[in-house]
Amino acid sequence: KMNTYVTGLMSKMTLDEKIGQLNLVTIGAATTGSVVNKGVEEKIKNGAIGGVFGIWGADQVKQIQDLAVKNSRLHIPLIFGLDVIHGHRTIFPIPLGLSASWDMDLIKRSAQIAAKEATAEGLNWVYSPMVDIARDPRWGRISEGSGEDPWYGSQVAKAMVQGYQGSSMKNADAVMACVKHFALYGGAEAGREYNTVDMSRIKMYQDYLPPYKAAVDAGAGSFMSSFNTVDGVPATGNQWLLTDVLRKQWGFKGFVVSDYTAVNEMTAHGLGDLQTVSALALKAGLDMDMVGEGFLTTLKKSLTAGKVTQQEIDLACRRVLEAKYKLGLFDNPYKSIDASREAKDVLTAENRTEARNITKHSFVLLKNSNQTLPLKKAGSIALVGPLANNQRDMLGTWVVAGDWQKSISVMQGIKDVVGDGVIINYAKGANITEDSLFIQRLNFFGQQMVTVDPKPADELLKEAVEAAKKSDVIVAVVGESQSMSGESSSRSDIDIPESQKNMLKELAKLGKPLVIVLFNGRPLTLTWEDKHASAILEVWAPGTEAGNAVADVLFGDYNPAGKITATFPRSVGQIPIYYNHKNTGRPYTSGPSKFKSNYLDISNDPLYPFGFGLSYTTFSYTDVKLNKTTLKGNENLTATVTITNTGKYAGEEVVQLYISDPVASISRSVKELKDFKKISLQPGEQKEVSFTISPDELKFYNSQLKYDWEPGKFIIQIGTNSSDTHNASVQWNK
Ligand code: IFM
Repeated sequence: KMNTYVTGLMSKMTLDEKIGQLNLVTIGAATTGSVVNKGVEEKIKNGAIGGVFGIWGADQVKQIQDLAVKNSRLHIPLIFGLDVIHGHRTIFPIPLGLSASWDMDLIKRSAQIAAKEATAEGLNWVYSPMVDIARDPRWGRISEGSGEDPWYGSQVAKAMVQGYQGSSMKNADAVMACVKHFALYGGAEAGREYNTVDMSRIKMYQDYLPPYKAAVDAGAGSFMSSFNTVDGVPATGNQWLLTDVLRKQWGFKGFVVSDYTAVNEMTAHGLGDLQTVSALALKAGLDMDMVGEGFLTTLKKSLTAGKVTQQEIDLACRRVLEAKYKLGLFDNPYKSIDASREAKDVLTAENRTEARNITKHSFVLLKNSNQTLPLKKAGSIALVGPLANNQRDMLGTWVVAGDWQKSISVMQGIKDVVGDGVIINYAKGANITEDSLFIQRLNFFGQQMVTVDPKPADELLKEAVEAAKKSDVIVAVVGESQSMSGESSSRSDIDIPESQKNMLKELAKLGKPLVIVLFNGRPLTLTWEDKHASAILEVWAPGTEAGNAVADVLFGDYNPAGKITATFPRSVGQIPIYYNHKNTGRPYTSGPSKFKSNYLDISNDPLYPFGFGLSYTTFSYTDVKLNKTTLKGNENLTATVTITNTGKYAGEEVVQLYISDPVASISRSVKELKDFKKISLQPGEQKEVSFTISPDELKFYNSQLKYDWEPGKFIIQIGTNSSDTHNASVQWNK
């Protein structure tokens, strides 16, 4: 049916109208480059635009859709996109935080709510999920993904796509997902934005491509190409990537849009002038050109010059029209433009309640000496730090339609949760940063993202120390502001900014319990904090319900159970650092050793390994029991452990399964995550957790890029994080 419909429509289209469908423009907000489109109204009427992004709201979207549907010759509806990344109006934790929940139902639910709110405001296409594997926390966009592990990233990719697209994209509350950034963007050298990526094919297939593939398998409707090069060719014009891998190997049937002016940027990459790179991109398999209008202005010339074919233009146009068909826009171009839904479905009390729940599941307890946490709902606390009484920085990166004024500050959340039971002595204590280059770059395009308090720094500090002196416990709410992570927010130093660290150092001298509530969009180097703070609660950028969720956890109404999905290094010099590295020929051993793969000045071990996170309670693990120790062919193995809650609180534990393959035809990672189960246990309660392992879990890409397993010994590892496992070995023959 779709085929017939689209073929019929295309038979009526002129060449200009076909090229128009390939043109995506931005109006208004959400610009991440210096180019903004001009003459949009006229172009829509002339059929020279296929989609619009950067506006939302039933009325605004309707006005623009009217231009296409009522005033263009063929009345072809527009597709409306936006960077809905971790919520639309109700903002959830940044994706790196969401991923720390290890809860696919909650992650999927966050996408469903985002889709419902986005469609209530006229949108039908979201630029999410971002599934780039990232192993370099200097890269600001590590905040937008699910961390460093390909298997785990694949689970999240699937959950997000299913959440956005629902059972059918035709549903009024479903949107089309746009998986990004294809591909390998998280591998940008030195963690610097827009930078080169260069890696082996084995590494691509084994470690970086699986989440994109999982998104294709989950039925994702669209993909966005990335800014980087792959094998020297910009992803946006890379035929191997966009056609051979994505379509031929994986069977992707949707359309590919470029990133913002990424076609034009191929010129700076050194691939030729705008006409040349536009032709290259189309031929490679790019269907829609975001903002730069290279397709719009050059494809006709290229067709005449024989540089592209009519068939190539038709194919791209067909894919864009098919997307509109799948969304049901030809049945009803105004499908999700409904002012009554906008009034009742957006930022509702129910959505906020769900967000509060999802948010507290994303928090990770990194340290808790002497059971400092949970705090008692009595006595006095010094609530200090630039993020303590702050709404502005609660939401995190990419919250285009999120309103920070609707967010709950930590101060407000604590007051709501503890009422008059606790005396709060507040002081700001420090500026977010006082580094002038930092401040200048954060305040981009004339926006005032950070300000420096008119009070001198030593006065701010003195107030914090005074507040601390008269309190039983210090709660320091510190870390990164909203714009310190995300796009174009690479950092070479990933410490808590100096101004705040100075405050922490003064507070630590008082010898009182010091709780750090940490806001950040990336793993930070926390070696000093880990040594001197009594407790560290990682809350990422928590979203609209920030303060409520923080208070729920600080005061024990919820016992944190999140686990980090990106390794926290001890020092920036250890980067890239990730748990599933190779062994090397001279493996690292702790203790003094020369001529081994190590540093002179620091251990190789991270501060907090992948999968790490504490609880207010404690869990013990038994040894791993295997139902067989020798297997053959396609048999399955069952590995079982028993977990006991040995502490005083009810709690949840993420039980993780890793496998290592010590002998193979290529050097394999020291271990790889293959499964996990999240369980809840009452104090004293025990549960058996079993994993079924098939030969599929043993497969890897060999030097011929064949995905298969090789017989031999495997070590089955089950534990509470990637560095703390119970192991048993098995012989698996073919
Ligand atoms: O979706 C984003 C992308 O992640 C980065 N560049 C801009 C796009 C559209 O806003």
